[in-house]
Amino acid sequence: MARQTAHTPLERETHKNRQFIPGHLMPASALINVMTQAARKAARTLVRDFGEVEQLQVSIKGPANFVSAADHKAEEIIFRELNKARPQYGFLMEEGGEVEGADKSHRWIIDPLDGTTNFLHGIPMFAISIGLERDGQLVAGLVYNPIADELFTAEKGKGAFLNEKRRLRVAARKTIGDAVVATGIPHRGRPGHPGFIKEMSTAMKEVAGIRRTGSAALDLAWTAAGRFDCYWERNLKPWDMAAGIVIMREAGGIVTDLQGTDKMLAKGDVIAGNGHMVKAIRNLVAG
Ligand code: IPD
Ligand code: CA
Ligand code: CA
Repeated sequence: MARQTAHTPLERETHKNRQFIPGHLMPASALINVMTQAARKAARTLVRDFGEVEQLQVSIKGPANFVSAADHKAEEIIFRELNKARPQYGFLMEEGGEVEGADKSHRWIIDPLDGTTNFLHGIPMFAISIGLERDGQLVAGLVYNPIADELFTAEKGKGAFLNEKRRLRVAARKTIGDAVVATGIPHRGRPGHPGFIKEMSTAMKEVAGIRRTGSAALDLAWTAAGRFDCYWERNLKPWDMAAGIVIMREAGGIVTDLQGTDKMLAKGDVIAGNGHMVKAIRNLVAG
């Protein structure tokens, strides 16, 4: 039977919010190709290790923060691949920290495994996150969930894509009462528990649903894809957000910190969505 056009409300909503480019792949830039190659290579070891998650040797990296051997291996692969392709660029990596490059204007910001808790528990919701900063501005981002084989990429001024062929747009919903909103819950050892409970108790009365995926990079990418209407979280690190911020912006979304400025990486907090949603959620959780 021939594929019919959108009939269900979900399909209609999906078609309204996303522009499909049927039939052919968008040609990715050399930069996105370099990032994709590095991510796919690292993903192969992550997927193998995920399959053996129970046998993985894990070490404790501070309160409630586990890092697997897979994490380090993946970061080394990404570092090696990116360094081979762009030998002058600097790095900021979750595991390896800061590595200065000869070219002071470019810096990769990398989380080799965002969603570590999910990974260790066999929950297939984690991602590789690679952002690129040029002269202090975020200019490219890649978030890859290797289990779902979903590759979210964006380059400043060139749009955001899923698997290189579907253009991403943030959801157009304006009514907060219809919104599905993602957030992060501070776990054991993290600050801000009472504050989070206050925010949650305000937000839950106003929105259609709240989700916690366990990967900030995927929260941003999924908001860019219109799956979530909005996302907010506190106490994040630059590598949790850098790539997702570019993807969000290139999907037509707004990303701010909780004060409404663009100091997300410095402050560690974020709100992302369309303009209406960001304003509404900011009023609820930071107002
Ligand atoms: C974590 C995830 C999670 C967020 C935490 C992060 P990790 O990163 O992004 O969604 O709530 O704050 O630390 O530790 O899995 O790389
Ligand atoms: Ca992370
Ligand atoms: Ca990580």
